[in-house]
Amino acid sequence: MKIVFLGPPGAGKGTQAEKIISRLGIPQISTGEILRRAIREKTPTGLEAQSYIEKGALVPDDVVVRIVRDRIAEPDCKNGYLLDGFPRTLPQAEALASFESIDVVVNLEVPASLLIHRLSGRRVCAQCGYTTHVDRGEAKCPKCGAELTQRKDDAPESVQNRLDVYEKQTKPLIDFYAEKGLLKNVDGSKPLAEVTEAILAALGSN
Ligand code: AP5
Repeated sequence: MKIVFLGPPGAGKGTQAEKIISRLGIPQISTGEILRRAIREKTPTGLEAQSYIEKGALVPDDVVVRIVRDRIAEPDCKNGYLLDGFPRTLPQAEALASFESIDVVVNLEVPASLLIHRLSGRRVCAQCGYTTHVDRGEAKCPKCGAELTQRKDDAPESVQNRLDVYEKQTKPLIDFYAEKGLLKNVDGSKPLAEVTEAILAALGSN
């Protein structure tokens, strides 16, 4: 199955993607993760992307379209994949439609006040990428014991910019995919396990 996860920053796309890929046995393709790795490794793509990401702006369409096109051509994607964070502009969605046929688009709906709480309290393990929230009271990464840190783009000024960018550039994709009959809305404000079950039901995989 070829799945797209749509939703504002902090909706839980990354968190839920991990659960869904382990149930369905398909790879997760997170453009945010691919770009953050490129920044850590100081590749030419990473150097180009860094300033956009840190201020909460979108990386240019041609850069992310190339990344996704190359990634889905790899052998592990032949039985499907889950796109997390792509597409997020109409030109990206149109580019994707020109080379792939998506089966379903899951749109995680979460009110803005909850998004700000989730993003401002999010902590990630610098070593293994584990994602948590200060509400869970974890002092160190429970998986590998490394320090938990805050993403630079979770600073308050970047968060507001990311939410504005979402409203202007990504939200129109809801209508784009609804018109194609591919959209499934899921309430992402519920507890984690409930959201996972609702997504699996929307995918017809529960
Ligand atoms: P990206 O990494 O894709 O960030 P994002 O879309 O802003 O999404 P987030 O990772 O912030 O949120 P999420 O929905 O995955 O939430 P999470 O599961 O972590 O992109 C980062 C940047 O890269 C972009 O700003 C842009 O610059 C660039 N980029 C990436 N893709 C691009 C593209 N296609 N085009 C151009 N530029 C691109 O959850 C958030 C928090 O909430 C966590 O603490 C989690 O533990 C908690 N939480 C989640 N679900 C629940 C729940 N149900 N109950 C309680 N807590 C929960």
